[in-house]
Amino acid sequence: MVNCKVVLPLLAALGYLLVGVTAQQKDWWETTVFYQIYPRSFYDSNGDGVGDVRGVTAKLQYLKDSGLDATWLSPIFSSPQEDYGYDVSDFLSVDPLFGTNADLEELFAEAKKLGIKIILDFVPNHTSNQHEWFIKSEQRIEPYTDYYIWHSGRPNGNDRPLVPNNWQSLFYGSAWQWSDIRQQYYLHQFAVGQPDLNYRNEAVIKEFDDILRFWMAKGASGFRVDAVNHMFEVEDLRDEPINNPDDPFSYGYTHHIYTKDLPETYEVVGRWRKLIDDYVAANGLETVIMMTEAYANLTMTMKFYQSDDGRPRAHFPFNFAMIEDLHDWSNAYDFKYIIDRWLGNMPSGKITNWVLGNHDKPRFASRYGRDRIDGMALMLMTLPGAAVVYNGEEIGMEDFRDMSFEDTRDPQGCNLGPNNYKWASRDPQRTPFQWDNGYNAGFSSAAKTWLPIHPQYAGNNLRQQQEAATSTYKYYVAAIKLRKERVFTHGAFESRAFNDEVFGFVRYIHENDNRYLDPYNVVLINLSGYSQKIYVHHLYEFASEVATVKLASKQSSYNVGAVVSTAGLTLGPYEAVVLGN
Ligand code: GLC
Repeated sequence: MVNCKVVLPLLAALGYLLVGVTAQQKDWWETTVFYQIYPRSFYDSNGDGVGDVRGVTAKLQYLKDSGLDATWLSPIFSSPQEDYGYDVSDFLSVDPLFGTNADLEELFAEAKKLGIKIILDFVPNHTSNQHEWFIKSEQRIEPYTDYYIWHSGRPNGNDRPLVPNNWQSLFYGSAWQWSDIRQQYYLHQFAVGQPDLNYRNEAVIKEFDDILRFWMAKGASGFRVDAVNHMFEVEDLRDEPINNPDDPFSYGYTHHIYTKDLPETYEVVGRWRKLIDDYVAANGLETVIMMTEAYANLTMTMKFYQSDDGRPRAHFPFNFAMIEDLHDWSNAYDFKYIIDRWLGNMPSGKITNWVLGNHDKPRFASRYGRDRIDGMALMLMTLPGAAVVYNGEEIGMEDFRDMSFEDTRDPQGCNLGPNNYKWASRDPQRTPFQWDNGYNAGFSSAAKTWLPIHPQYAGNNLRQQQEAATSTYKYYVAAIKLRKERVFTHGAFESRAFNDEVFGFVRYIHENDNRYLDPYNVVLINLSGYSQKIYVHHLYEFASEVATVKLASKQSSYNVGAVVSTAGLTLGPYEAVVLGN
């Protein structure tokens, strides 16, 4: 029988262990903010109208001053730029448009001095049709013959064969393109100039093993794995079932059960994870991370964390819940449901992340509306795990939806023609960063920039927000600072919808017998344009009677540092605050 003499020391040891766990150092990537830079539109250092690598280096201090410790760059590799860098013709060299490999190495070196990690975009699903592998594959030159998905098509009398099946490209139109040289069709799930690689060919996987090693050796701290769930297709290339028959050339025409989310994908991701971890261990590096991009349902997304038998895959898959599942019409119960669902479905011990936008999706300021910018930003910054910020979000940049067809560059827009491009194009969220209210918003000295500057820049730019007493930028910086506190890096999480309009959550560390002494911070977000009265105890029963305002949105009537009552607290329209002890 176990007596008290045995139990007490055991409990003491357990208590010590628990405190030990909460005080544990987190790895750099687990709580950081990943700042996504779209280099074409960030800063143009040489006046050609296109942002470049030196432009990123020139602005590293800005990242540092904002409290940002990691950045991921959309592709800067050699590319004909048909899909603006996502059509890579040489994975090992920087495109002259963006600079040179030496420029990139300089960026790595300068970033290291400032303690900023650089994550590169890794595009394994396809190459450019100008890539040497494709050019040789088209000519059946070994070993490249089977590097891509080729098919002779369906017989059509004496005419050119018909496309092999009913698969459509994400960018509109058949996913098959005829090659006169090879007299066969090749598959391209994205633009015509982006032939899909054949992942059933081990040699292809090995090519990407080498690419990972190459960039780790140069100093990359991680990889954002592009369009990863498109890597495999069924071998027999059978038709997909019809989803929406209205337009047989649209991507929505079929259900993508044979071209997306195939189980083989996860094995390759696991292989690359192991390769990365082995490389890190062999070279005594800090953790190099892999974050995967897949628009997939929750089940298939969670599978990117680990295999059923616990072998690690990505460090995390991007969490697109705030892009795909939550909207400006979502109420507080929707927020609670979607956020809790994500957290509740994560494999235990894994790290989450939150994303509000990227270069593919309309900007969140436009999706959620200007009034909700601070509330959404606060959520992103104070939920558990890592946060991902798309450049320009920190000043509340909005979509330039009224861009003309002549100015539109994105194939996803252009392919739809002048009458339908507007809502499909991704250019509205890719316009140059608005640094100040000077020439070209301080982005470039060129006569013409690659995309037009958003006309809003004069009234919404970084300099103006840095100089204003309160601004979205200042709020971001304060939130980034706050999230580095232990209660946010290590704290537990519980959420509540107070009513339809007010969503809130608490972050706390349970480390005292008297739970009223535990450190806590409560995040309260009014999603509505009406004042609301809140009882914080409904969310966190151990809240003190009065609490200190730690952060207050632009709309707030509270001052940071003020002491307020937690019972019957009034939240003004769209107000977002953090209170704590
Ligand atoms: C990813 C990228 C997107 C690109 C596509 C094809 O979704 O984010 O910009 O067009 O992959 O590479």
